[in-house]
Amino acid sequence: MSKLPEPWRVKMIERVRLPSRDEREALVRAGAFNLFRVPSEHVFIDLFTDSGTSAMSDAQWGALIQGDEAYAGARGYHRLERTVQEITGLPHMIPTHQGRAAENLLFSTLIKPGAIVPNNTHFDTTRAHIEVNGGTPLDLVIAESRQPSLQHPFKGNIDLERLAALFRSTPRSQIPLAMLTLTNNAGGGQPVALANIRGMAELCREHEIPFFLDASRFAENAWFIKQREPGQQDRSVAEIAREIFGYVDGCTMSAKKDGLVNIGGFVACRDGELAEMLRARLILFEGFPTYGGMAGRDLDALAVGLHEVLDEDYLRFRIGQVATFAEQIEALGIPTIRPAGGHAVYVDAGAFLPHIPPLQFPGHALTLALYREGGIRASDIGSVGFSRRDPGTGEWIPAPLELMRLAVPRRVYTASHLEYVIDVLRAVCDRADGIKGFRIVRSAPVLRQFTADFEELT
Ligand code: F0G
Repeated sequence: MSKLPEPWRVKMIERVRLPSRDEREALVRAGAFNLFRVPSEHVFIDLFTDSGTSAMSDAQWGALIQGDEAYAGARGYHRLERTVQEITGLPHMIPTHQGRAAENLLFSTLIKPGAIVPNNTHFDTTRAHIEVNGGTPLDLVIAESRQPSLQHPFKGNIDLERLAALFRSTPRSQIPLAMLTLTNNAGGGQPVALANIRGMAELCREHEIPFFLDASRFAENAWFIKQREPGQQDRSVAEIAREIFGYVDGCTMSAKKDGLVNIGGFVACRDGELAEMLRARLILFEGFPTYGGMAGRDLDALAVGLHEVLDEDYLRFRIGQVATFAEQIEALGIPTIRPAGGHAVYVDAGAFLPHIPPLQFPGHALTLALYREGGIRASDIGSVGFSRRDPGTGEWIPAPLELMRLAVPRRVYTASHLEYVIDVLRAVCDRADGIKGFRIVRSAPVLRQFTADFEELT
């Protein structure tokens, strides 16, 4: 049987338009070569992020209309709380407006100056929140993850030996929590194996260190476990997800990904005392505990989205779409992180544009080439956002990899949209030698990728 198409049909459409080549050129120059400044109406295919860009279902729109906007005790809160309890088994759910608000709550509560927080790879906002609270984020992903072309079923795994060594050599009080990001976004959207999650849970228990997930893409991770991990094929994704959450003390969640909503997030945890501390801070920064940072209707849409994301027809199509897209890109001779990630294809821009040194931002340069060629927006996951200053010399140390991420929004683009992207990438390949690097001329002290001004090098 041939591969099944989208397990849904279109009920409402949103017009998109390709601006002319001259318009595109004027727009990138007016925005100081930062694609965050290009208005979305001038983007034809937007692969900037899979976050908050999902199309909601008719059931979610229906729930939205029925949303209860009460300040205290809204229906949607109880519905979402029940849903999170059912899916995760975690008893306490604290709603926030998005993932980084969940990070802010948890980290400002748990992290004191000098703290160390290990993870497979911290996402940029996670890293920044730990640093802002005086802590040090530590990336302990397995070494295979650093080799883009190497095939490995679970390249998001954390290196358990290095984690154990860290736990042995560091006073327990200095590690307020350990984290694991599902899937590992900054490392190619790669999944973590159930065995690895179990192994990390055992280490954390042995050393009495709270274990939290960044669960933003938990369903995609659970699907990969079902496909790739021996013995998991006959279980449902929901069962696998429940087992994953059973190993942890809590999670942060950006519901803008696997919640299938445009805004929302939460912290969930087992410890009632911690939940009370988080709720006290929640009132200060987000809102009353039964809505946190969300409108009542958004709580309802999220409760529906969390069920829909575990639909295996949806996940089969979703992960299959990204895998096919990756194969088509590879067929052009463009190197990518292998195997394909769950939510995005990551082009190895450092290898594709070897004439551009890391600190002239090959990933960023490639995103500009793609927009100029075809009105497509992708993001740089490389040295613009992930380089570090050497504390001794002050010199910039490049990111481990220079990547361009083509993130695929959930339930938004069809095969023909992605075929157009392939055509544009083919044209970019033909003149890759002429693509130039960039220099940052102005930037903010943290998360500089969002607002930096660039100059194209000649
Ligand atoms: N954790 C992970 C793994 C993420 O990918 C993100 C966001 C966050 C936390 C923060 O969540 O945006 O809701 O505040 N990732 C987006 C992306 C921005 O494009 O990958 P948020």
